[in-house]
Amino acid sequence: MNAKQFVKDKIAGIRKTIGNGTAISALSGGVDSSACTALAARAIGKQLKVIFIDDGLMREGEPQQVKKAFAKLGIKVNIVNYRKKFFAALRGKTDPEAKRRAFRNIFYKVFGKEVLKSKARFLIQGTIAADIIETKGGVKTQHNILEQIGIDPMKGYGFKVVEPVKELFKPGVRLVARELGLPEKIYNRMPFPGPGLMTRVIGEVTPRRVALVRKATCIVEEEIASLKPFQAFAVLLNDKGTGVEKGKRKFGEIIVIRSVESRDAMTAKPTPVPFNILMKISTRITAEIPSVTRVVYEITPKPPATIEYI
Ligand code: XMP
Repeated sequence: MNAKQFVKDKIAGIRKTIGNGTAISALSGGVDSSACTALAARAIGKQLKVIFIDDGLMREGEPQQVKKAFAKLGIKVNIVNYRKKFFAALRGKTDPEAKRRAFRNIFYKVFGKEVLKSKARFLIQGTIAADIIETKGGVKTQHNILEQIGIDPMKGYGFKVVEPVKELFKPGVRLVARELGLPEKIYNRMPFPGPGLMTRVIGEVTPRRVALVRKATCIVEEEIASLKPFQAFAVLLNDKGTGVEKGKRKFGEIIVIRSVESRDAMTAKPTPVPFNILMKISTRITAEIPSVTRVVYEITPKPPATIEYI
């Protein structure tokens, strides 16, 4: 693809759609929403308000890192803290699709609130082609896909959704992000799902369980970085495994390490992680998170598995 031409066309398209109006961009720091935000900022400048919803489901230090990276590009990011609302919406839910639905509903509710507050009528969103294909195909319910599944956000939520990169797959989005001058740290970043660490917590999503998976994710990312996998992270299971501490049996948490190679996330293969790296991760996780008694490495491709756990 010709990224330069794509950017030129999209900027013109966004200008035409938004006109004199104002728009809000839903920035999560991932490559998709970052590319969209940078595109929209180029297209409509001060008519764009960039919002980062802090849902409590982000990786370590993410909101601040994103704010800093965009400040360097002259784009102001407003972080709004809705952690309590997200955890309240997810309380007691264990079914994967029920969790996704709850996330989607609360996301649009709080975002709708922010959009209305700002008087903007447009929401810029980083939906990509794989999201649309998988939601239509019934693989999952993406939180950012209302229009494609026949829900009119204007009727239900009071604003119009604009999705400038919805025809691209991940590699195309990376090219666009690079073309827009985003730092490599952003355009080459591992994909991170919109519902964040929620997709890596089996069972109920509580602040304690998310904090645990966040810490484990940090260790996995650090130790596996040199392999440059497509995606690598930790998952918290909803069962306990027996361990031993000071000669006594104890039941602890089980963490799964997931690392995959893929081009567009439609299919994936497990990364052949060297055993010494796996051992280092296991040792660090059990030492740094004492409530974990077991660490396992997952070796299922996609299909039949998906990349995330819910
Ligand atoms: P799965 O788990 O379906 O994931 O194999 C494929 C790719 O999509 C990411 N993913 C999401 N991204 N919202 C997103 O923005 C979501 O709800 C979502 N669910 C999964 C996942 O990280 C992988 O890269």
